[in-house]
Amino acid sequence: MPKPIKAAAFDAYGTLFDVYSIGRLLEQFFPGHGAAMAGTWRDKQIEYTRLRTMCDRYVDFWQVTGDALDYTADFHQQDMAADQRRALMDQYAELTAFPENAGVLRQLKDMGLPLAILSNGTPRMLESALGSSGLAQYFDHVLSVESVQKFKTDAAAYQIGPDAFDLPAQEILFVSSNCWDICGATWFGYHTIWLNRAGQPLERLGVEPHHIGSSLLDVAGYVQQMNG
Ligand code: LAC
Repeated sequence: MPKPIKAAAFDAYGTLFDVYSIGRLLEQFFPGHGAAMAGTWRDKQIEYTRLRTMCDRYVDFWQVTGDALDYTADFHQQDMAADQRRALMDQYAELTAFPENAGVLRQLKDMGLPLAILSNGTPRMLESALGSSGLAQYFDHVLSVESVQKFKTDAAAYQIGPDAFDLPAQEILFVSSNCWDICGATWFGYHTIWLNRAGQPLERLGVEPHHIGSSLLDVAGYVQQMNG
């Protein structure tokens, strides 16, 4: 039997913050290539976090994100002007929240759950996205892997959550729309809910989330169900 949920930790990009606007801006700058470039950018960004963590070559997520963007422009053979690069990077600081977020976060707070963001993003990136999305008021902790210099899915990155809440991972609900992140968090020991916003298949890694939903709306219902 899973234990009652005493706190919740959220991934940031794609989970709380909608990254759709990035693809839209890419399409505006590089017509016909926006969707493909958005995919390459995101994949490279995550690939670089893994390579750097595996080889102990940490640089922060802002740097990784910029490096991945430069690679993406080269890969798709697009000339990216300095002001376009700046505008694309700035998008990361100005993401909007998914529309249901504020209501659900308020509901979770009303249930007495402390809430955290646990993200690969730098503290500065997270603070600015929280500011522009208006979600800052709901979070007790804004946790960045910057403090351990290792990206998710390293155990040191996931350990930041239990340390901040002073709770075992099994009593913390980890919420992410990234399936790889959910697999890592489940392996680590969190109680997990995958928000499968894009209707993707489960990663074939031999591990399953405790629950699957399609948006943040499913989180409040699941906590109610688990805590009776
Ligand atoms: C994060 C990325 C992985 O917020 O979405 O950590």
